[in-house]
Amino acid sequence: MNPKPSEHLLHALHAHQQQHRFVSDQAICDIASRLNLPRAQVEAVTEFYSFFHRNPRGRFDLLFSTCTSCGDLSLQQALCEKLGINAGETRGDGLVSIGEASCIGMCDHGASLLINGLPLHSLDSERIGKIAELIEAETALEAWPAEWFKIDDHIHRADLLLQEPLESGAALRVVEAEGADAALEKIRFSDLRGRGGAGFSTAQKWQFCREAEGESRYVICNADEGEPGTFKDRVLLTSYADAVFEGMALCARIINAKQGYIYLRGEYRYLLESLEAALATRREVGLLGSSILGIDGFDFDIAIVVGAGAYICGEESALIESLEEKCGNPRIRPPFPVTSGYMGKPTVVNNVETLAAAAGIVIHGERWFRGAGTWQSRGTKILSVSGDCAKPGIYEYPFGITIQDILNQCGAENTQAVQIGGPSGSLIGPSKFDHHIAFEDLATGGSFMIFDSSRDLLEIIHNFTNFFAHESCGFCTPCRVGTTLLKNGMDKVCSGHGTAHDLDELKATAALVSRRSHCGLGVTAPNPIRDGLKHFPELFEARLLHQEMEPEFNLDASLEEARQLTHRDDAEAHL
Ligand SMILES: Cc1cc2nc3c(=O)[nH]c(=O)nc-3n(C[C@H](O)[C@H](O)[C@H](O)COP(=O)(O)O)c2cc1C
Ligand code: SF4
Repeated sequence: MNPKPSEHLLHALHAHQQQHRFVSDQAICDIASRLNLPRAQVEAVTEFYSFFHRNPRGRFDLLFSTCTSCGDLSLQQALCEKLGINAGETRGDGLVSIGEASCIGMCDHGASLLINGLPLHSLDSERIGKIAELIEAETALEAWPAEWFKIDDHIHRADLLLQEPLESGAALRVVEAEGADAALEKIRFSDLRGRGGAGFSTAQKWQFCREAEGESRYVICNADEGEPGTFKDRVLLTSYADAVFEGMALCARIINAKQGYIYLRGEYRYLLESLEAALATRREVGLLGSSILGIDGFDFDIAIVVGAGAYICGEESALIESLEEKCGNPRIRPPFPVTSGYMGKPTVVNNVETLAAAAGIVIHGERWFRGAGTWQSRGTKILSVSGDCAKPGIYEYPFGITIQDILNQCGAENTQAVQIGGPSGSLIGPSKFDHHIAFEDLATGGSFMIFDSSRDLLEIIHNFTNFFAHESCGFCTPCRVGTTLLKNGMDKVCSGHGTAHDLDELKATAALVSRRSHCGLGVTAPNPIRDGLKHFPELFEARLLHQEMEPEFNLDASLEEARQLTHRDDAEAHL
């Protein structure tokens, strides 16, 4: 099995759903037989990914972002009222469905939603009113105001990577002149560490893969970018895609891979056309395909596979499962992808930014890169800054910049807290604003979310906890059950029904989920609660009931349905 993108199961399901607005039993059978896959696999995949539906969706299918930076559910409610529909439902006439999605990567564009898969941003009550009118009039999306769909890069600070685009083919020409060993050494001396979060040495990863046994090898660009508050890969793929392709081809030359994949998050499907066009241009000029740069045996091509709304597919082994047309459940590791990845073959998985940086290093030399940053975190980091500040957007800084400097430069005032690295990262208060963005201090895959003093921080923590409960893939019990228990605990505390006993329960559950989960999602899911209790205990205290215990389950309320069914509401029908 080595599916061409046009025949990939996710693409077949997407194409079907676009046309029919849901995936029926019959469609599952047809797709399974056409792709020669087991029916059970196609059904499981359809149900795993949140962008596929088993019941018909409306002709206008809206998903409001639930992110604290690009979401505003009061606007969802306003639209529901205008259209006479409840959130989570499809209207009886089949015109419209309204639902929710986790962060859609539009955090620098204000409140946003996906409509039939396209991001629509800068929502406010006026725009919601116009959207309702356009939907009721059944106006085709092509006739909606184009500026609603125009997505800007918002680059406010450019450094090594964003200053000027790389010349196409430049890194490959250096490899041709100096050799693959020398190129790998440059990357090693640059001390480039992965930008996807974990910070593993890129040269080491490529070397392991190069040395692993196997006839074929693969390069995968991880463009899943699902961590709430992160949108820097969106910008790289919009305006610097060629540098990313260059990095992939460079990696292929070094590890001897013939095929590469970009795993693009479903929320960025709108980028597919421009990315395909950029790949076609590279093929035309001999930078992809057979005999690249005229070098006999240097054959490499890149295909794009588009995900379907599953945060877990950013985890590299889940991503590989998804590429292999399966549910995105993380694998047991070891073996690691460098020895047994895509199709069981040695595979490098790198973040978008890592690949672009590798290309720059080979062109400009390791000193160009090592000269910036700290001694444990070389080079620059591209940050996605969002939340309560005057200038949300992209900021590329040398590692070592302090939180306070970033806050000053993006125009943040009265900052109560900053979430570094998204919900799976660290929540810090002003006492830590003199700390640095660096692997050895505050590490981030790119998300930098700002909350000023007007925000209810407990609700922010609640939102992040809901996010993990929603995105848990369900494969292992500690995370599947534990993230829901954490969510229930936060529901109770935030609604003012929590007691000191509930906080103890939250702490114990958080420790268990973190210690016993199978993959990084579960390990980091309790971070918002852990940091909240550590740095902002007074917020929890203030919301507590001062009694020993409040039952989690209201038995009397749970009997309400039975009372209605039996038309009873007398004293005997209550506890
Ligand atoms: C739940 C989860 C989600 C992740 N999401 C992403 C992602 O969206 N993009 C990414 O590059 N890495 C993500 N990672 C990290 C990847 O597993 C992997 O470490 C990374 O792609 C390696 O690339 P790098 O070495 O260039 O950082 C995620 C990890 C976990 C546990
Ligand atoms: S920790 Fe969560 S996301 Fe990871 S495998 Fe277990 S259930 Fe799935």
